[in-house]
Amino acid sequence: MDRIALLDNLRERVGAQAVLSPDDLAGRDPGWDTGNLGAAALVRPVTTADVAKLVAWCREAKIALVPHGGRTGLVGGAITGPEEIICDLGALDRIEEIDPQTRVAVVQAGVTLNALQEAARAHGLEPGIDLAARGSATIGGMISTNAGGIMAFRNGVMRHRVLGLEVVLPDGQVFCDLTRVVKTSAGYDLKHLFIGAEGTLGIVTRAVIKLDPLTGAGATALVGLNDAASAQRAIRYFLAQGGTSLRAAEIMWRSYALTTSRALGFTPGQLPLDAPCLLALELAADTFEQASAALESGLAAIWDEAQIIDGLVANSMQQAERIWRVREDTDVLYRLHPRAPSFDVSVPAGAIDDYVARIQADLKAIDAGFAPYVFGHLADGNLHIVFNVEGPLPAATNEAVERVLYTDLSAVGGSFSAEHGVGRKKRAAFERYADPVKRQLAQAVKTIIDPEGLLNPGKIVDPAS
Ligand code: LAC
Ligand code: ZN
Repeated sequence: MDRIALLDNLRERVGAQAVLSPDDLAGRDPGWDTGNLGAAALVRPVTTADVAKLVAWCREAKIALVPHGGRTGLVGGAITGPEEIICDLGALDRIEEIDPQTRVAVVQAGVTLNALQEAARAHGLEPGIDLAARGSATIGGMISTNAGGIMAFRNGVMRHRVLGLEVVLPDGQVFCDLTRVVKTSAGYDLKHLFIGAEGTLGIVTRAVIKLDPLTGAGATALVGLNDAASAQRAIRYFLAQGGTSLRAAEIMWRSYALTTSRALGFTPGQLPLDAPCLLALELAADTFEQASAALESGLAAIWDEAQIIDGLVANSMQQAERIWRVREDTDVLYRLHPRAPSFDVSVPAGAIDDYVARIQADLKAIDAGFAPYVFGHLADGNLHIVFNVEGPLPAATNEAVERVLYTDLSAVGGSFSAEHGVGRKKRAAFERYADPVKRQLAQAVKTIIDPEGLLNPGKIVDPAS
């Protein structure tokens, strides 16, 4: 089918309003990856039935479909080619219900995390998951990558927040399991197949998300320490205290904190950053005053044991915001080093300092200039490693780098992809580092559900040919 016929056909099937041509897409922000909008067309369905219609049309026309959420994914899960069509879920943006009694939200896939957080807050509730891209990341995208973020150490990852799911399958059928309860042991819990599947098995259109009561007011501290082990001591201390709850415990090794704070224009006097490791903590209590006091007294209590070098409890919203911007404004790195290679690993708690020391040394052996920025979600062992060079790396160098970063990770119980997914960029790593039986099974599942490779081809795994 030529380009014009394809667009005419699509418009006829799903409505002219909903279809954008490559000309319409030119000049639009592609999101994280410049290759995201390389498709033959972008379709914006407004209902689940529209999505099913689109899938059915693509199946007849033998044209692959790539689902898009906020386009903030980091592993190329949304990249499209000129033979593919984008199914943009952005118009499925209704929060259908917040049920304060059952403590669930029913949302369409295109709702942003921030929108859900706001709606839940009005009922004294929260979705129990939070991440830096909250303004753009959509619930459907977060489900599809099994996102984790800042609160995963307390509340689990997306998989643990999803109670029910509606998914359009490659054959056009709708898998509908909008369960609202935590317990269901009624056979295979198949919704989990679609969580973290990056749209390769179906297109998530609706979800039931578990909500938790909001935990009072939060106060923030920034603490300078020698290493991750000391930071973990501080985390354990705050986790064990009654009357307060630890909401965030994020680590930044020195070069990351210095680079982001400098780029954001913060002076050394404004934030205490002169330590090998910086730990940003958020502690919640009934009132802001109680939370701040608990942070102050807690840090004093463990000052010696955790060998704290410096610490600051934010005494204003502005100061707290500064601390969180230093941690969350990762864009700064990519402005300094365009397309900087980035990696996202999980390392078990006891192994973090050794891991960081080893990779720093081994990466230097590959290239003496490699001095990656390391930061992340210390309380669950998820480290982000962003290189201080322009990307992408030549294939052979990337392979050597992955060998340094990933070898032995699964043997110690970690993961080569903690929360960003596999997409296209970590596919070679999936082939090298995922358990071979798991890969075989993954391909078997893909082959049963999507034998023709209609959905998000080239990501995670292909069907058996
Ligand atoms: C973060 C993203 C990179 O934690 O996962 O900032
Ligand atoms: Zn993260």
